[in-house]
Amino acid sequence: MSIRKAVFPAAGFGTRFLPATKAIPKEMLPLVDKPLIQYAVEEASSSGIEEIIIITGMGKSAIEDHFDVSFQLESLLKEKGKLDILKSIEEISELHFAYTRQKKPLGLGHAVYCAKNLVDDEPFAVLLGDDIIDSKVPVLKQLTDVFTDVNASVIAVQRVPTDQTHLYGIIDGVEIKPGLHRVSGLVEKPKDNPPSNLAVIGRYILTPEIFTSIEKIGAGSGGEIQLTDAINDLLASEEVYAFEFEGDRYDAGDKLGFLKANISLALKRPGLGEELSEFIRGLDLKPRRT
Ligand code: UTP
Repeated sequence: MSIRKAVFPAAGFGTRFLPATKAIPKEMLPLVDKPLIQYAVEEASSSGIEEIIIITGMGKSAIEDHFDVSFQLESLLKEKGKLDILKSIEEISELHFAYTRQKKPLGLGHAVYCAKNLVDDEPFAVLLGDDIIDSKVPVLKQLTDVFTDVNASVIAVQRVPTDQTHLYGIIDGVEIKPGLHRVSGLVEKPKDNPPSNLAVIGRYILTPEIFTSIEKIGAGSGGEIQLTDAINDLLASEEVYAFEFEGDRYDAGDKLGFLKANISLALKRPGLGEELSEFIRGLDLKPRRT
């Protein structure tokens, strides 16, 4: 069965970016020249996803406007002969988008549950736009290939230093092929004794049974309905796999990760990279206060 639908939870408050995110959704902050969320949407599209389901909340209408057709803007660009820019705008709005609201930010598990009726009864992808992954093969495509093999839920994981495991969902499991693990449990942000250093990154393929699991679990770490707790519940009835993907990942939901992603992506952009690299090399690279 192919994966046709992808859910993008985007209802969080983005408090780590305040005051920038007071009136602008975090998902709309620009990485070079595209809003954060567009990178994950493009990754999904180039991995064969046909339907994009975005979970929004209060103050997030700019996301809907961004992916909508802008007739006035498009005819202006056509008139002015700016056809390259026109193409970049048209391509993305041709995808099929659906939106639903999470009325209260009760946690990632709850946000995914809001897509239940739109997903219906088929396996689907979840992408967290905060995780920007620069890779040769789109990470979601790497996961859908694994899904085709194992026919079960697949979580993207990455090895992190042990002193950072408390920041992530961490999996326990057995490596059955290089990079592929059969999961036996997950712990959300372990304070001590992490079961491994394999951290869950924001890309998942989930079977629709996850919705029953989300219904069963209550609030977990941080008082939120956690997707990791629901996956733990799913493990009682189904196999779940974790895959160490290939690619450089940036946590763009965090200021430092966002800056690193901006610099790294800009350095790769024709027409920007060379001058930026020259500028960085010319800087006095000691941290300083002005
Ligand atoms: P985060 O906790 O990293 O993002 O949630 P946040 O809440 O937006 O940002 P901070 O921590 O306050 O700075 C991970 C992802 O899950 C979504 C967020 O929008 C983000 O994409 N999310 C989280 C929801 O959609 N609803 C929730 O209730 C919680």
